[in-house]
Amino acid sequence: MVNIPDAELLRLIRTEDPEETEALFAAARAAREARYGRRVFFRGLIEFSNYCKNDCLYCGIRRSRSSIERYRLSEERILACCRLGDLLGYKTFVLQSGEDPWWDDARVTALVAAVRSAFPDHAITLSLGERSPRAFERWFRAGANRYLLRHETADAEHYARLHPEGITLASRKKCLFMLKEIGYQVGAGFMVGTPFQTPEHLLEDLHFLQELHPHMAGIGPFIPAEDTPFAAFPAGSLAQSLRMIALVRLLLPDALIPATTALGTISPLGREQGLRAGANVVMPNLSPRAVRPLYALYDHKICTGDEAAECRFCLEGRIRGAGFEPDLSRGDWTG
Ligand code: 5AD
Ligand code: FES
Repeated sequence: MVNIPDAELLRLIRTEDPEETEALFAAARAAREARYGRRVFFRGLIEFSNYCKNDCLYCGIRRSRSSIERYRLSEERILACCRLGDLLGYKTFVLQSGEDPWWDDARVTALVAAVRSAFPDHAITLSLGERSPRAFERWFRAGANRYLLRHETADAEHYARLHPEGITLASRKKCLFMLKEIGYQVGAGFMVGTPFQTPEHLLEDLHFLQELHPHMAGIGPFIPAEDTPFAAFPAGSLAQSLRMIALVRLLLPDALIPATTALGTISPLGREQGLRAGANVVMPNLSPRAVRPLYALYDHKICTGDEAAECRFCLEGRIRGAGFEPDLSRGDWTG
């Protein structure tokens, strides 16, 4: 593992010097190239329910946001999305939802088993929030391979300012270590520019990722969502988000790091810049077009009007345009 002293990390978290930033991105590109070459992996994202029992202050699908219509896809519709993804060449499905109690442990187990039996060779990634150890184990045995659960911020006090009472960083961390223990490839990650965040918090995020050593790390700017407590806060900056991607690449050279939709939302070429800062994954949307605008984590989310095939070809063009090579293999972590 690479070791960079904290004082140096803090300086890089803050720097606005263009030459220093370019040198940081070049080092991150070299690190990803040594490990993964110029390949960029695809993950087909299916957002299958926007019901959520949680009330995270930043999130546009939080329980108390009554201004959005709620939807829940049936198992059959989710399988149809997987079939479309397969036709488009994707070998990884990411099944994501809010913390939706209707999708209880047994229903999710049946869903995972159905996807697994229809697609024996594909990777199945779940992203369903915090659930019980027993559920995590059952789903793993049913055929899930990976789990995405961002830690959001690794500072306990900051975490408490972003979440309702009773939702703790300790419990989030426990889930992450447990998922890893069970055998999942695990994705953690954080938002950049959330309200009250300081450079020291971002340093803690880097420390936590070094401690957890996840297989994947999702990093994107905070973007305000209407009718949420943080609606009036400014979005995180593109420049700082890119610097954090580059630092995570340097500290975890093996990690799979997405150029996130949030990056593409705050800037038209944000995802390309993410790839140039060390990211090596894209997550095209496979959700049915009719429900996409409803999975409104934040305002002005891109790709809500596009067909799955459009995102597929759009991303391929963007990846090549940025000087990288689209790769449709499963893209497992091989560190
Ligand atoms: N801005 C940016 N990202 C957000 N997420 C949730 N709400 C927002 C927002 N307002 C991210 C969280 C979550 C992931 C699914 O989406 O990091 O883990
Ligand atoms: Fe969806 Fe470009 S990735 S339209």
